[in-house]
Amino acid sequence: MLPANRLWLSEGGVGLLRSLRHYCQKTPRKLTICEAISHLQVGTKIKVQGWVRSVRPQKENLFLHVNDGSSLQSLQVVASSELNHRLLTFGSAVEISGSLVTSPSRKQEVELQADQIDVVGECNPVYFPFKIKEKHGLEYIRQFPHLRCRTNAFSSLLRIRSEATAAIQQYFKEKGFIQIHTPVLTSNDCEGAGELFQVEPAGQEKNQDEEGHQHFFSVPAYLTVSGQLHLEVMAGAFPGVYTFGPTFRAENSQSRRHLAEFYMVEAEISFTQSLEDLMKVMEDLFRSTTEHLLTQCPEDVALYHKHVSPGYRDNVDLMMKKSFNVITYTEAINILNSSSKKFAFKTDWGCDLQTEHEKYLVKHCGDFPLFVTDYPYALKPFYARDNQDQPLHTAAAVDLLVPGVGEMCGGSLREDRLDLLKTRLAQAGLDETYGWYLDLRRFGSVPHGGFGMGFERYLQCVLGVDNIKDVIPFPRYSRSCLL
Ligand code: 4AD
Ligand code: MG
Repeated sequence: MLPANRLWLSEGGVGLLRSLRHYCQKTPRKLTICEAISHLQVGTKIKVQGWVRSVRPQKENLFLHVNDGSSLQSLQVVASSELNHRLLTFGSAVEISGSLVTSPSRKQEVELQADQIDVVGECNPVYFPFKIKEKHGLEYIRQFPHLRCRTNAFSSLLRIRSEATAAIQQYFKEKGFIQIHTPVLTSNDCEGAGELFQVEPAGQEKNQDEEGHQHFFSVPAYLTVSGQLHLEVMAGAFPGVYTFGPTFRAENSQSRRHLAEFYMVEAEISFTQSLEDLMKVMEDLFRSTTEHLLTQCPEDVALYHKHVSPGYRDNVDLMMKKSFNVITYTEAINILNSSSKKFAFKTDWGCDLQTEHEKYLVKHCGDFPLFVTDYPYALKPFYARDNQDQPLHTAAAVDLLVPGVGEMCGGSLREDRLDLLKTRLAQAGLDETYGWYLDLRRFGSVPHGGFGMGFERYLQCVLGVDNIKDVIPFPRYSRSCLL
């Protein structure tokens, strides 16, 4: 009897296998540029597909650089000048087959000696907004959201963003957190700041509410400003939960750190003792994600630290080593008030910290990440836990401020005491809306807390990018055109 793992081939079958083997030997293996330059396939016939990053015709040879987004480095292609073609221009899409060989030049380890070059998609260099020999700044390439992925800088950013996403998921998985897909459509205004986008079926924008007209969901629906309240539901059954998704705020802001649609990483932790529990997770998440980036895409990160924010790598290295600073809001106000700097916004106790204050505080504390804790109770949304302190009345809330950006994370312990929460919601006229939220405190309530980290602001902080629009594939901000 034949062993189960062996195929019995008829004579015809053997013939078929032979011709298949023959075909495989003749057909070049398709590799990504990243695989090709890794040196493992030297001596084999390969095929690559990508976009031309440089064309250098010489008397006998033609030199090309081809990139397919799989790595920052491009693959050098050498071909006989007979293979040159007028459509082979900067930006054109090509398919090239040939032999992968060790390069005689020190500039690269391997190169592709082309047997065949096909132009798959032409690109007229006169109209293409990026020019072969020019170094385009982030501000220039931002004007072309549909084409900027063809540049080195933005292609690196997209790889970094993708790796950071994976690292965040990995961090929470290793720590035993459960990922929750919190809804995008919701009736709540978690932050209470009224920065909501309302959603109605197209063509029915004139829906009214109290007057008896119908909404799709029978109540007004909005795009989420935070998944926190839904995470709090789940924190009633798990030690730790998180969500990582798009978040929407109708802030009329053209700033370098605000978007109308951004990604937020939010975590909620049950059985917390104090704000330190939350700060530890924020700091750990920052370090493990950044460590992953520095080891998994060092060239892409280095491009930013070299060309976009020269000298910034030292700051990042320090952030990886030294514990973040911690001060209270009251200490922060004292620092601001004893400064000789004139601020545009007030710095009295009870005023919210503005970007100018946050940036000053970070600088003052060594241009290094800084936790500010225990904000005035009156400044924080209904869910923040009352510290019940006198005479200053504060809430157990914490923001993480970072160089160049200001606030990167915001979090708090949540008010887990039913009576206090009831009173606060009633004062705000929200007790009916949040009946379900009060239930969470009625049935097996535990001390808990959480935070949200702006993913784009995290990327700005690690890469030293000044404008938030340069770290998201398709930025949405007020008065911009949608693509
Ligand atoms: O401080 P925020 O408003 O906190 C919350 O939404 C909490 N409910 C989160 C929680 O505890 N689960 O937002 C959290 C972070 C900010 O620190 C900031 O980094 C980012 O989200 N953020 C924005 N990023 C880009 N554009 C905007 N318009 C942003 N608004 C907030
Ligand atoms: Mg905040």
